[in-house]
Amino acid sequence: MSAEALLERELEHFEREHPRSRELAEEAKGPLLSGVPMPWMIRWPGRFPVFAAEAQGARFTDVDGHEYVDFCLGDTAAMTGHSPAPTVRALREQSAKGITLMLPSEDALWVGRELTRRFGLARWQFALTATDANRFAIRLARELTGRPKILVFNWCYHGSVDETVATLRDGAVVARDGNVGPPVPLDETTRVVEWNDPAALERELAHGDVACVLAEPALTNIGIVLAEPGFHDALRAATRDTGTLLIIDETHTICAGPGGYTAAYGLEPDLLTIGKPIAGGIPAAAYGFSAEVAERLEALLPADERADVGGIGGTVAANVLSLAATRATLSEVLTDEAFERMIALGERFERGVAEAIERHGLPWHVTRLGCRVEYLFRAERPHTGSEAAAGGNALLDRLIHLYALNRGILLTPFHNMALMSPATTEEDVDRHTAVFGEAARELA
Ligand SMILES: Cc1ncc(COP(=O)(O)O)c(C=O)c1O
Repeated sequence: MSAEALLERELEHFEREHPRSRELAEEAKGPLLSGVPMPWMIRWPGRFPVFAAEAQGARFTDVDGHEYVDFCLGDTAAMTGHSPAPTVRALREQSAKGITLMLPSEDALWVGRELTRRFGLARWQFALTATDANRFAIRLARELTGRPKILVFNWCYHGSVDETVATLRDGAVVARDGNVGPPVPLDETTRVVEWNDPAALERELAHGDVACVLAEPALTNIGIVLAEPGFHDALRAATRDTGTLLIIDETHTICAGPGGYTAAYGLEPDLLTIGKPIAGGIPAAAYGFSAEVAERLEALLPADERADVGGIGGTVAANVLSLAATRATLSEVLTDEAFERMIALGERFERGVAEAIERHGLPWHVTRLGCRVEYLFRAERPHTGSEAAAGGNALLDRLIHLYALNRGILLTPFHNMALMSPATTEEDVDRHTAVFGEAARELA
């Protein structure tokens, strides 16, 4: 059957099976802009989003009573599995003893030490979202270097950080298509180069006006685009040679292991940012500094009544509830042992998809980074964000997502990503393999 015809069949099936979600989606058009509480939620593959009822571990149910295996896991924010017991316990205990005070708690020290053990950076600060951690890290990099610009890789994503929603078009830096309300022309704030292109990186850093490179250690938001051998060495050398700070954003690449890609591959960033799952889904994020950067910052920033309360930080950042949840999550949920199991499940998922692609002779491929697996509808592995973007297929994306949803499986929206949590089982993975194989057979 053609992809168009299959999509039509699946859309009808979806509408038939989700009457309560459809009713709520209609009602939501009253109080909510565009009928959703957050703009991205209009992009689910049916004609309306599924309304969630309850979630536990790697599963959730919707308001029509269907149960799903969740491989989206809140786009990594629930990589711990939903409502992990140790985090819930810590939340219950801490919320009865205070939620937010603008005072430090002992948990902040424990979490700081644990992040140092995992990622190697010497000192830490806390925020509520990875977006904010990136914004604050960029501001500190500007302050330290006295330089105005940042450099990012084409088709990166680092949250709703103004300077990063930039792309290359015919060699010029412009706002990403459809980006709402960019504050200034992006070429005033940002240099953009392709991932895995050390020559372009060296050329752009040679201008001497870049405060920091902000990079995921593998692109994960345009499919997974891994670093080629030697690229990280070139990135570190080029940033060091030009006095540019290197910020590694581990928000997604924590999938590579307990200390993210940085620990797994021995990176040496100047700053590191992370958010999403570190508190089991409760808003929490962290940004860390190498000993050298921390020393330079402490010498530069006033530690008295002149300390800045405008550019970085926030009233509810580092609140005691987030930090209690982070401590419980890091000590009891996202443990070294949990990662071993999650990565083995990722390998099983990858094998299942690769075998189905091979069996049905489809020109697709699958990539894995730790416990994160992604398939792209093109035969060759992309080396840059542009190649990955060019390999996108909106029709197939929508069809596969809906096909899976109709059979009790939730994939991450915007791309074909699946994440394994400590609560995910081999049966969950095999269920996806069977459904993916069925879709591949119908499409082949
Ligand atoms: C690599 C990376 N950094 C930062 C963020 C921002 O996270 P948040 O939206 O939770 O602020 C994202 C979100 O997807 C991300 O993928």
